[in-house]
Amino acid sequence: MELRSMSLAELGESVRHTMKPARILWQTPDTIAFVARGRAGRMEFHTDPSDEVMYMIKGVMNLHYRTPEGEEKVLVLREGEIMHCPAGVPHSPRFSPDAFLLVLERKRRGEELDRFQWYCERCGTPLFETARKVPDYDEDPVSRVYEEFYASEERRTCAKCGHVARRPA
Ligand SMILES: [Fe+2]
Repeated sequence: MELRSMSLAELGESVRHTMKPARILWQTPDTIAFVARGRAGRMEFHTDPSDEVMYMIKGVMNLHYRTPEGEEKVLVLREGEIMHCPAGVPHSPRFSPDAFLLVLERKRRGEELDRFQWYCERCGTPLFETARKVPDYDEDPVSRVYEEFYASEERRTCAKCGHVARRPA
């Protein structure tokens, strides 16, 4: 066996030149590593059963997150900075498509579910929630739940203020 290393700068460049939103570096029973780039118009929150470590390789990310009291806050992660997002904290990474970051998680166990939540961008009322088992990150669970959410105007319509969430261009 032979151990090997990878260049984060080169991986970031390779992600920029493909259409895929993320490139998986490895998946083992204990760890997942991937380089991800921004998705235009991203607004959903992700709540997962694993802690996440995020390292901003290039550019700046606004990590929106929700506290147990239901307050929405924003952490600005600048190029070269690292952060820890504990398991169970709903978070929504928003950054430009030319920025990218390294994410470290652990592989999901057994029946664990990843949850995805949308809130009205005008008044904050919950719009829709769905959950998925994510045994293999290569299946791109975020793109699958986008299809589920954006396929239905009813799911995207706020019951309180009537605002309809629009599909990102
Ligand atoms: Fe609303």
